[in-house]
Amino acid sequence: MIKKTVLITGGSRGIGLECVKIFAHNNYNVIINYKNSDKNAEEIKNELEHLYQIKVLLCKCDVSCEDSVKKMFEKIKKEFNHLDVIINNAGIAIDQILEDKTSKKFSEVINTNLIGPFLIIKYGYPLISKGSIINISSTNGIDTEYIESIDYDASKSGLISLTRNFANYLAPNIRVNAVAPGWVNTDMNKELDDKFIKEENKKILLGRFAECYEIAKVVYFLSSDDASYINKSVIRVDGGLC
Ligand SMILES: NC(=O)c1ccc[n+]([C@@H]2O[C@H](COP(=O)([O-])OP(=O)(O)OC[C@H]3O[C@@H](n4cnc5c(N)ncnc54)[C@H](OP(=O)(O)O)[C@@H]3O)[C@@H](O)[C@H]2O)c1
Repeated sequence: MIKKTVLITGGSRGIGLECVKIFAHNNYNVIINYKNSDKNAEEIKNELEHLYQIKVLLCKCDVSCEDSVKKMFEKIKKEFNHLDVIINNAGIAIDQILEDKTSKKFSEVINTNLIGPFLIIKYGYPLISKGSIINISSTNGIDTEYIESIDYDASKSGLISLTRNFANYLAPNIRVNAVAPGWVNTDMNKELDDKFIKEENKKILLGRFAECYEIAKVVYFLSSDDASYINKSVIRVDGGLC
C-alpha cells in the first residue's frame, strides 16, 4: 500500500513537532518545513527514520516567501509526487505595547501567519487528490484579543476566513478546517511572566495551559477518516477559556 504523506509547516518545534511525531507514529511519510532550526530538524529526521519505516523530508523555507514556497513544492513533487495532508502550523507572534508596533513588524506577522498559509495551500493543493488541510489559528483570532498582539490576532482571524474560503473552493475532495488553540506551553510563550500566567490560568476552566500533544491529537483526528464529515469548521482546543 502507498504510504500517506503529510506536509507540516513549522515542524521543528512546539505544536508542529508534536504533529510530526503523531503522523510518523501513524505511518505517514513526513515533510518537515522550518525556517532556522537545522539541528532540531536533522535530529528529528534521524530519530523518526530510525523508529519507523517512513521517509522524512526536510524543507527549510520561509513560508512567507513565494519563490521559496514554489521551490519547496518542486522538491516535494520530485520526492513524493502527491500529498494527503497539509498542516499550516508555522507562525510567529511579536508581542509589544501599541506604541512600539510598526507597520514593518505588523507586516512580518501577517506575512508569516496569513500570506504563508495562503501560498502553501495555493501551491500545495494540486498535489492532493483526496485529503485534508488543517490551519492552526488561535482563540486570539476569535474572541481572546490583546492589544499587544493586535497584528497576531488579525492574522489568526484572517486565517479563519482563508480556511472557510478554501473549504468552499476545494470541496468535495479536500476538507479544510482550522484548529484554534488557547494557551499552549511552547517557546512562543516562554517570555510570559509567572504573574500573567497565573491570571490567565484563572480564565481557563481546566486551570492550565495545554501541552503540545493535546493540540496535535486533535489535528491528527481532523486529518483522519474519523473526521470525514467535518469540513469548513473551526475547532477550539482551549481547556474552556472564558
Ligand atoms: N503557543 C500557543 O500558545 C499557541 C496558541 C494558539 C495558536 N498557536 C499557533 O500554533 C502554531 C505553532 O505555535 P508554537 O507555539 O508551536 O510555535 P513555536 O514553538 O514558536 O514554533 C514555531 C514554528 O514555526 C516555524 N516558523 C516560524 N516562522 C516561519 C517561517 N516564516 N517559515 C517557516 N517556518 C516558520 C519555526 O521554525 P524554526 O524552528 O526554524 O524557527 C517553528 O518550527 C502557530 O501558528 C501559533 O500561532 C500557538
